[in-house]
Amino acid sequence: METLKIFGFAGSLRKNSFNRSALRAAQELAPEGVKVETFELNGMPLYNEDDEASPAGIVTQFREKIAAADAILIATPEYNYSIPGVLKNAIDWASRPYGKGALMRKPVAIMGASPGMLGTARAQYDLRKCFVFLDMYCLNQPEVMIPFAAKAFDAEGNVADEKAREKIKQLVAALADWTRKLRKGGVL
Ligand code: FNR
Repeated sequence: METLKIFGFAGSLRKNSFNRSALRAAQELAPEGVKVETFELNGMPLYNEDDEASPAGIVTQFREKIAAADAILIATPEYNYSIPGVLKNAIDWASRPYGKGALMRKPVAIMGASPGMLGTARAQYDLRKCFVFLDMYCLNQPEVMIPFAAKAFDAEGNVADEKAREKIKQLVAALADWTRKLRKGGVL
């Protein structure tokens, strides 16, 4: 079977980010025939339409990696009941040029971790809204919201909570299945 390429990024620049840790776990827990490549958003400039045609190297690289991927996996923190600016900025860059952005019509799945009790639920629904405009094929379930992150992850950033690990594992497998179904059905 051909290897399915999932491209993942997290909306956090923090060294000990729970969401970057969750993405690393997704890499480890990917089923056979699925490869999760991750990308760091550090150093990505703020979106400026003047630079859209010739953006910074990191933006070009980001767009190219999205274009080459079969599906996208985003780990989002929740900031002020929504997605962090770091993540929105990256999506904005990859959504352009208008009508031809690399993210358009890609399969995508979301997960998120927060020290709070809702595990990024509010941010995730905001993130789904961006996918509507980009006509992305967003996986509905499983919803992976990891609450009480300080307990769910150990000091090394490993997912210590067995339920959270299982959810992440299910999500990667479901995204791969979803992508293969869309391809088989001639949607992609
Ligand atoms: C937060 N945090 C937070 N948490 C939450 O559950 N809901 C929220 O609305 C917010 N708002 C918020 C705003 C800002 C500006 C910051 C810096 C933080 C806490 C947040 O979930 C926590 O810092 C996480 O650890 C961020 O994710 P990473 O960096 O660990 O991946």
